Amino acid sequence: MSNTIDNLLHEARRFAPSEQFAANAVATADLYERASADRLGFWADQARELLHWHTPFTSTLDWSNPPFATWFDDGALNVAYNCLDRHVLAGNGDRVAIHWEGEPGDTRTITYAELTAEVKKAANLLTALGVRAGDRVAIYLPMIPEAVIAMLAVARLGAVHSVVFGGFSAESLRSRIDDAEAKLVITADGGWRKGRVFPLKDAVDAALQGGDTTVEHVLVVKRGENEVAWTEGRDLWWHDEIALVDADHVAAAFPAENPLFILYTSGTTGKPKGILHTSGGYLTQAAFTHKNVFDLRPESDVYWCSADVGWITGHTYVVYGPLANGATQVLYEGTPETPHPGRWWELIEKYKVSIFYTAPTAIRSFMKLGRQHPQKFDLSSLRVLGSVGEPINPEAWMWYREVIGGGETPIVDTWWQTETGAIMVSALPGVTTLKPGSAQVPLPGISIDILDEAGVPVGKDQGGLLVVTEPWPSMLRGIWGDPERFKETYWSKFGDKYFAGDGARYDKDGEIWLLGRVDDVMNVSGHRLSTAEIESALVAHPLTAEAAVVGAADETTGQAVVAFVIIKQNQLEYAESIDVAAELRKHVSEQIGAIARPREIFIVNELPKTRSGKIMRRLLRDVAEGREVGDTTTLADTAVMSSIQSKLS
Ligand code: PRX
Repeated sequence: MSNTIDNLLHEARRFAPSEQFAANAVATADLYERASADRLGFWADQARELLHWHTPFTSTLDWSNPPFATWFDDGALNVAYNCLDRHVLAGNGDRVAIHWEGEPGDTRTITYAELTAEVKKAANLLTALGVRAGDRVAIYLPMIPEAVIAMLAVARLGAVHSVVFGGFSAESLRSRIDDAEAKLVITADGGWRKGRVFPLKDAVDAALQGGDTTVEHVLVVKRGENEVAWTEGRDLWWHDEIALVDADHVAAAFPAENPLFILYTSGTTGKPKGILHTSGGYLTQAAFTHKNVFDLRPESDVYWCSADVGWITGHTYVVYGPLANGATQVLYEGTPETPHPGRWWELIEKYKVSIFYTAPTAIRSFMKLGRQHPQKFDLSSLRVLGSVGEPINPEAWMWYREVIGGGETPIVDTWWQTETGAIMVSALPGVTTLKPGSAQVPLPGISIDILDEAGVPVGKDQGGLLVVTEPWPSMLRGIWGDPERFKETYWSKFGDKYFAGDGARYDKDGEIWLLGRVDDVMNVSGHRLSTAEIESALVAHPLTAEAAVVGAADETTGQAVVAFVIIKQNQLEYAESIDVAAELRKHVSEQIGAIARPREIFIVNELPKTRSGKIMRRLLRDVAEGREVGDTTTLADTAVMSSIQSKLS
């Protein structure tokens, strides 16, 4: 690791903005000056300029009870009104909000007027089903317009959505439904992926099996046309119900701190955390960052963020940021390689996408496939590229710029998290001289530092732990139902400075390089997974006595899940007769979801532990990455590592 970091920090390439880009850029250098002169005044200005407030706020930040912040507390707004009605009222109803493309090639073009009309009907439908402000609604949908419509309809009512990524299993869905005590689930029969329909309603049925749930209704969008089981009285077809409701709906105002959504993310324990975001501050930072980091001109740009709405990137940069800014965007249902490996590039040509935001893992898989695929298409409409989810290595950055960006487009490497709600560290196109591989600088109005273990800020050319030193508008307001865990996870290490869980380093110019997680959280294809959660899934299998999971470096996915498993003594004979690894991989998929399925499972007799019984994952990572095993002196039994290695060789 340290070798790689040294190489990275010697990265010498620099890309200053072109004169033309700089002259026309949306963001200007004076944003930094305004924000540092009066940080709170700066955010208050953004909130007033970018959003419509039904009741204007007079107070900006209340940090009198840390770590519980409020922003714009006495103001009131409606998040959906800000994303929809006001654009129509301003005369932009005919602007396309969504160019949707299904995986099989079917399309829908939805203007702001049409999207507003759909959301109004959906809000009436949810009201008819008993959804009121504050109620929780689980959304488990493919990437179809109804996912956006459902989220906005929930927001319009002042209710709280909990979107669960469609790749999560019934088990994961159930635990999220239970934790949030959701009243309604919105799902689809199925969605298209890799040329096939994958069922979603089946997973909802499995999740709700046996009753004893807070869920009163399941609203089902018809998409996959696959057969579904039906529970009379509980299940309702979206298209049947929506036909029955009124078209008009007046958006009521809700307090700025009204909860907007819960989004579950992996932590260091087995139980996912329900990250809570509220309305006014979240939407302010979503809109501000989307406009300035992507150099957005809503009247002429076509924007595309490839993230699924099941992740935070989809919340902030598919739904709330772009729609608050009145942008036109592409929404694509399927996978990049279906039906051919150039599908994404074909979409960029077709819709003349000008701003494109994706993850390093995707870029690296395209690099592997070769530049001949993107080169078949005209990508000259692109003018800004973005990256998110994990560090982007300079080689991938250069490929992205040359092959996708025609050697000219700025690339913004954006660091942020589910918890931060919106981008925190990034270059500003047209302002910042770009440095491949570095996320570079905190955004205007955002205060970041790197501290050593003792909480002392490190200097240039030094590394430590990334913290946010001042509250920010889109910060998480808590962990749903668990204020103690909120305090403990983020605020116990450095007092009232937010501990992000990431290692970082300043280079000699004082710019920031992210170095990955410092806790037991893995980053697989830009998705967060917890070692503890996968371990507990593995030990829930009747064959498993003990399990240890590590994130091993992987060329394409950044990290990959590698598991070391001890089989129960009384199961050894049976285990010999089956493909244990395949069985356990399938089991993890069922328990958590396919994204958590281990790349490799090694069956071992023992695990390396310290004298106090803590598993030494560092040593297992050495094995998984094929390196010489590091210092074993703190092991209770130093022979364990040779026993593991002899099993594997
Ligand atoms: O480790 C950091 C990494 O992704 C983590 C957050 O994951 P999640 O909450 O799922 O949100 C991902 C999308 C915002 C961070 O703690 N990460 C995210 N962006 C970057 C990154 N690491 C390096 N560079 C980035 N640009």
